[in-house]
Amino acid sequence: MPAASLEQLASLCKRRGFIYPSSDIYGGLQGVFDYGPLGVELKNNIINSWWRANVYARDDMEGLDASILMNKLVWKYSGHEETFNDPLVDCRACKGRWRADHIKGKCPSCGSSDLTEPRPFNMMFKTAVGPVADSDSFAYLRPETAQGIFANFGNVLATTSRKLPFGIAQVGKAFRNEINPRNFLFRVREFEQMEIEFFVMPGSEEEWHDRWLEDRLSWWESIGVPRHQIQIYDVPKGDLAHYSKRTYDLMYNYPSLGYEEIEGIASRSDYDLGSHSRDQENLGLSANVSTNRDSVAKLTYYDQANNRHVVPFVIEPSAGVGRCFLAVLSEAYDEQLVKEPAADKVETVRTALDAFVKSVSRSEKLSGEQRDAIVAQAEHVSADLANRLPQVEQLLGMPGADGIEVGKKLRGVAQPVVDEFYRTVLHLKPHLAPNKVAVFPLKRNHEGLVGLAKGIRSNLQLEANMRTVYDDTGAIGKLYRRQDEIGTPFCVTVDFQSLEDGSVTVRDRDSMQQERVLASELEQYVREKSR
Ligand code: GAP
Repeated sequence: MPAASLEQLASLCKRRGFIYPSSDIYGGLQGVFDYGPLGVELKNNIINSWWRANVYARDDMEGLDASILMNKLVWKYSGHEETFNDPLVDCRACKGRWRADHIKGKCPSCGSSDLTEPRPFNMMFKTAVGPVADSDSFAYLRPETAQGIFANFGNVLATTSRKLPFGIAQVGKAFRNEINPRNFLFRVREFEQMEIEFFVMPGSEEEWHDRWLEDRLSWWESIGVPRHQIQIYDVPKGDLAHYSKRTYDLMYNYPSLGYEEIEGIASRSDYDLGSHSRDQENLGLSANVSTNRDSVAKLTYYDQANNRHVVPFVIEPSAGVGRCFLAVLSEAYDEQLVKEPAADKVETVRTALDAFVKSVSRSEKLSGEQRDAIVAQAEHVSADLANRLPQVEQLLGMPGADGIEVGKKLRGVAQPVVDEFYRTVLHLKPHLAPNKVAVFPLKRNHEGLVGLAKGIRSNLQLEANMRTVYDDTGAIGKLYRRQDEIGTPFCVTVDFQSLEDGSVTVRDRDSMQQERVLASELEQYVREKSR
């Protein structure tokens, strides 16, 4: 069951250390986030899975890691200086600034319709290179990783023995000065992209475009984002980016947002290599490019069979790591009733919930909008309280709810029931899970149990290269819940029998079944079960 809302995911991410707001101690910076201890593991696992599928599992791909800062001429000839704009409007009433295509003629902050005419706003960040900041010394932070690949096309061709078709893959940071960053990780100002520029013979681009669409959908499936959650949007001609001949946008069904772009697969023709080449008039380009008198290179390929130089066409699958991270979490998210709570316990929570709703309705600290939103959510939870009890925590996290005094009482009665009868679980694919294994000693002050548990941890982590954590800070049941919530596929308990026969209990995250396995065979066991 995917997550119900972005708030639910954001709350888990903050509570468990997946994501923090950047520079939190100074009030944050809008549109920028940090990946915490679990977030960095999940993010790296996503990137590794992408790299493995697109570079190692194919024989037509090279990797690259180009610099973020590039000569500013790159951005002139790529077309970004002129066209990488969003339409900006100002609200004359409250001075808010908005992206014209994200609002419906009204200021989302104050509701006024007194807006300026839209004007173009270039989204590239500028910085100064060298000690003197003048009009010539600036450079841009790259708004896409793609141009580093195009600028290196000739280098890669000259230093490898590649023949068309082949691709260059890259993962790296990109920066966009979004007018309204919003929706948690979905629209941010600093993010990572996983991009491929796949170079093909002119004339074969349509076939390759469709092949890449299939390949990319298979990869999404392999990381737990199923096809039925993705719509393919064939972008209409009038909405295409300046470089694109045709683009398929993969639209994922995000909680709270609905179908939004997670990846673009563009057919970029010979636009990029042609734009960055000299002597364009002799290249027989199909794309409409600006005259280039600055480049020292001809980004062409020698087609031996036909004894001619061609400018390859390009297919570009381009996905954002953050948007992928959100989709993976959303698909994995589940709240499960482990055993039915006794009716009187549910009723105690209902009484506290009713008192909370009454207090919210009377509160003068809340705006009308906040009050209506909280009451609507409380009614939703109350309508099926036994199954929705874990949602009380999200209710209490809604804007304004923390100022309601009886909310503390509600949390106080709901939390123990949630802890006892429910679990939040991330059914992450094992290869993506931040921790592969968690190891617990049955008793934390028993030298033999602790020593064996710690030995298993370091063996799996260092010898088998599986992220493994040790925990002895609670009862085993509580430790299981803690690991379920962050998606750890296997929990290992070391008990007194382990000291006698070397076996341990392994508990499976999804089935919650336990079996005894020899500690010496754990690595193989985990590998087999993770396939
Ligand atoms: N090189 C082509 C390119 O950059 P794009 O559609 O602008 O195309 C590709 O971006 C992907 O990068 C998007 O599908 C999205 O996943 C991600 N992305 C773009 N802007 C983003 C932003 N402001 N915040 C988070 N991810 C973003």
